[in-house]
Amino acid sequence: MDFSSDHLQQRVHLVQTSDGSQTLSVDGGVEHYHSTNGAIAEALHVYINAGLAPFLGREVNVFEVGFGTGLNAMLTYQFAVCNGTKVNYTSIERYPLPLELTAKLTYHEQVGLDREKYFNALHSAPWSYKVELDSYFSLQKIEGNLVEYSPSSGIDVVFFDAFAPDLQPQLWALSIFEKIYKAMNEGGVLVTYSSKGFVKNNLRESGFNVKRLPGPKGKRHMILAQK
Ligand SMILES: C[S@@+](CC[C@H](N)C(=O)[O-])C[C@H]1O[C@@H](n2cnc3c(N)ncnc32)[C@H](O)[C@@H]1O
Repeated sequence: MDFSSDHLQQRVHLVQTSDGSQTLSVDGGVEHYHSTNGAIAEALHVYINAGLAPFLGREVNVFEVGFGTGLNAMLTYQFAVCNGTKVNYTSIERYPLPLELTAKLTYHEQVGLDREKYFNALHSAPWSYKVELDSYFSLQKIEGNLVEYSPSSGIDVVFFDAFAPDLQPQLWALSIFEKIYKAMNEGGVLVTYSSKGFVKNNLRESGFNVKRLPGPKGKRHMILAQK
């Protein structure tokens, strides 16, 4: 599947998901950036509650695959500030969305956050540099291809939020999980919305202890893989 950013703007459009939050539909619904059963609901269930919340109270290094709309980053920023938990958030994105498009997203409203501080700041942050957006939240966005990128060590939590395994199998490959595993701290976790058989197998083969948890609305399971 080709997601070349030259054409992405014409190929994505905003749609509403079942919990009232938006997502982006690609090529008329071939793929979506989030679950159509609820974008915010999915992000909270998979990434914040299953992945991040167990690390409450200690400094956490998060690595996200696919910055996209910035929804996971925004909810993490909120979690960090509300709980007084310092989060260092690194996210890789191959096809950054144009600001004219992210300007139409309204995630902050649904969770009662100030747009400028919690959403615009994420998108206007420079690529490549680590910036301290708050004393509890730093952000480093990396524009690059996960296939060619080696994450820095010290990762506690991985938000693995690539497009579907059937559409982008190269991102859910053994070689990718092996390099992520190597960069993680002992006890660190990788969470993802997919529970595909070949994904579980590749995670196991990389060394992870793989668990299936109940999924968000519309999905039977999700994966939590621990180092
Ligand atoms: C399912 S979307 C999720 C995005 C994001 N987490 C969000 O909440 O909007 C997958 C994201 O992965 C990005 N992506 C696709 N291929 C990639 C690659 N090879 N390396 C890094 N990111 C990639 C896409 O552009 C897209 O933003």
